[in-house]
This record gives sequence, C-alpha cells and structure tokens, in this order.
Amino acid sequence: MHRESFFEIVNISVNYGVIKALTNISVKISEGEIISIIGANGAGKSTLLKSITGIAKVNDGNILFQSQDITNKPPEEIVKKGIAMVPEGRRVFSTLTVKENLELGAYFIKDKKIIKENYELVLRTFPRIEERLSQPAGTLSGGEQQMLAIGRALMSNPKLLLLDEPSMGLSPKITSEIFQLIEKINKERGISIIMVEQNALMALKTSKRGYVIENGKIVLEGSSGELLQNPQIIKAYLGA
Ligand SMILES: Nc1ncnc2c1ncn2[C@@H]1O[C@H](COP(=O)(O)OP(=O)(O)OP(=O)(O)O)[C@@H](O)[C@H]1O
Ligand SMILES: [Mg+2]
Repeated sequence: MHRESFFEIVNISVNYGVIKALTNISVKISEGEIISIIGANGAGKSTLLKSITGIAKVNDGNILFQSQDITNKPPEEIVKKGIAMVPEGRRVFSTLTVKENLELGAYFIKDKKIIKENYELVLRTFPRIEERLSQPAGTLSGGEQQMLAIGRALMSNPKLLLLDEPSMGLSPKITSEIFQLIEKINKERGISIIMVEQNALMALKTSKRGYVIENGKIVLEGSSGELLQNPQIIKAYLGA
C-alpha cells in the first residue's frame, strides 16, 4: 500500500508529435515543502509545469494531487482544486490595471470574503504592488510584473504554487528579492511550491530539495545542499 501523498508525478511522458519532451518523469512534493527543478534551455521545465496544469497533454503516466488522479484534467478544474501556475515570462495582462490583474486571479472563487482576505494578504506580501493598483500592468518594471504574476496566482488560493523561472530577465538584486518573497509565501502561508529554474544557485538556496532535468529526463535528485556540492552541477549550472 502506498502512503497517501500530497502531490506526485508518476512516470509521465509528454510528446509533441515526434518530439519526446518528457520521458518517465517522477517528482514528489510533501505538503508545505518547496522544491526546485533545475534545467537548461529546452530541457522540458515549462512542459513539466504545463503537464501538471492540464495545458500539455500527458501521453503516459499519472499525476496525483491529494489522492486524486488529475492527469489531463481541464486547466480550470486543476486551478479549482488548488494548483496555480505563474507562467514563464510572467504574462500579465498589460493593458489592464494591476488591480484588475489581481481580480482575474480570483476568477473561480465565488466567496467574496475569501477573495477579500486573499487580496489583503497579497497586498501585504507585495507592498510595491499596493502602491501601483491603478497603473496599467504593462507599465510595471520586470520585477514588479513578476510580483504581480505571483500575486495573481495567489488570488486563486492555491495549495500548490508552480513557478516557471521566476528569475528570468531580472537583475541579481531583484532576483534575490523575489526569492525571499517566495520563501516567505511558503513559510507564512504554508503553500507548497515547485519552481523550475536555470538559476540553480538561487533556486537551490531557496528550496530544501531539488531535481535536475536534462533532455526531458530527471538525471539527478537530492537535498539542495548535496546538489549545490555536486561537481556535475557546479560545472553545468554554477559557472565554476
Ligand atoms: N508546443 C510545442 N510544440 C512542439 N514542441 C514543443 C512545444 N513546446 C515545447 N516544445 C519542445 O519541447 C522541448 C522542451 O521545451 P520546454 O519549453 O519545456 O523547455 P524549457 O526547459 O522550459 O526551456 P526554457 O528554459 O528555454 O524555457 C523543446 O525541445 C521544445 O522545442
Ligand atoms: Mg521554459
């Protein structure tokens, strides 16, 4: 008998036509945990997150969330179950205001009280966003847009948050600010987080555990401390 797990990807494969994007991937996360998945361009990081959220079709294997099989369920059903994704490149609605972007994140929540509580929590977490509520989202800086994109995902009240390269295109200073906020969201709200990153150093410093993905396969996994000491990782990702 399997012990009940919070979230588990079991041996999934994803193909785009003849391209094998993911082959036999297995990843596990416990409730309240924060993990990173490290990989280079084209390794399959975004595909992995898209397979969880129902955007990429899983050809083989299963995805289990709180003992339910959610493999290939429609995206809105997955959001309603409590899984939210912050997509690569942030994708805020640039002509809508910051406030409207946040409201859209709560699209599937009916209870006004919960929406209000989430909204207040998001503004408390991101004071820089609160100062800019009536501004079109497209006029925010890159770092602010990343904060807004994370805030929008939090508005859906997720139990599991998926982050696709939160450091992309940001300066080292803003990147470290974003990772501190990610850690804070995990600690203070107990939200489980899976982040995929090319920035191995920052991601592994923020997570307790990690996986390395290459050509659609998991090639290494372990505690973040172990991975940061691993010569293969130092050579490939830490630029030593
Ligand atoms: N919609 C698609 N149709 C066909 N092939 C795709 C599609 N999306 C991704 N791929 C291919 O799947 C592989 C993995 O792509 P993916 O975007 O998951 O990589 P990634 O690790 O997120 O890369 P990056 O770091 O550049 O964002 C690549 O070879 C890519 O060309
Ligand atoms: Mg990607």
